Amino acid sequence: MDNLPESGMRLLAISDLHLEREPSRRAIENLAHHPKDWLILAGDIASNPDLFTWGLDRLNERFAQILWVPGNHELWTQPEDSKSLRGESRYRHFVELCRDRNVATPEDPYLLWPGQGPNCRLVPLFLLYDYSFGPDGLSPEEAVTWALEEDILCADERFLIPDPHSSREAWCSRRVSITLERLSEIDPAEPLILINHFPLRRDLVRIPRIPRFIIWCGTRNTEDWHRQFHTHAVVSGHLHVRATDWKDGVRFEEVSLGYPRQWNTDRDLSSYLRQILPDPESPPPGGDKAPIWRR
Ligand SMILES: [Fe+2]
Ligand SMILES: [Fe+2]
Repeated sequence: MDNLPESGMRLLAISDLHLEREPSRRAIENLAHHPKDWLILAGDIASNPDLFTWGLDRLNERFAQILWVPGNHELWTQPEDSKSLRGESRYRHFVELCRDRNVATPEDPYLLWPGQGPNCRLVPLFLLYDYSFGPDGLSPEEAVTWALEEDILCADERFLIPDPHSSREAWCSRRVSITLERLSEIDPAEPLILINHFPLRRDLVRIPRIPRFIIWCGTRNTEDWHRQFHTHAVVSGHLHVRATDWKDGVRFEEVSLGYPRQWNTDRDLSSYLRQILPDPESPPPGGDKAPIWRR
């Protein structure tokens, strides 16, 4: 019979590998092969394109299919980066690096999950942020000033250059509108797995030691997307605070690994791969919250 789901395959997710750090690279090299499983990489894999492709190549050998969305770190232009690509052209370069390796990106047709669990459409998103997660009524400039009052400033302000867009918030607005167009073309009967580096809702941002960092964490435009679209689950990273939340019956998974002090480098990386599909029967093991991200 056709169309029977493939058994034994899982959709797994992780983000924020930050391969600039040696323990993260070692963890990938020691990772077992998962020949049936698919893996979501929800951004912040590496800023450096060579390191990024090194990681993709290692993971591509280990998984049947990889999906990637960009984090803010992939979009950083740093002086030591030989190509010095900026903004949109930098993003497009990373998309091409993925396509060369058959890795699905936000620019590609959305794949249908062929395994067990609901026949979800897997939707990689690139939406960025627009400072609107801050207090009501602040302009982006006022929001940055508000964060600076508590000595919080995201390195994106220096390294994430939005060219040719006039600002990061303008780039975000453009991404939201082209993404809405694509989402509207999906058959509403199909359940979706929405995948974005940044959390889709403000109330998922729990960073009590640096609360004003929230302005670099998303856009209010997506707060209701899990209801607006037929969403089965949402995957994100960026916060370096692993969590599972439920909102309106939808599962939200924060799947960060983070910097080495934020995970147990003695543990096998497999234990940090979050199962998205089939639906896990029990929540991920407790006692494994990452410390708060500071930058
Ligand atoms: Fe990160
Ligand atoms: Fe990030």
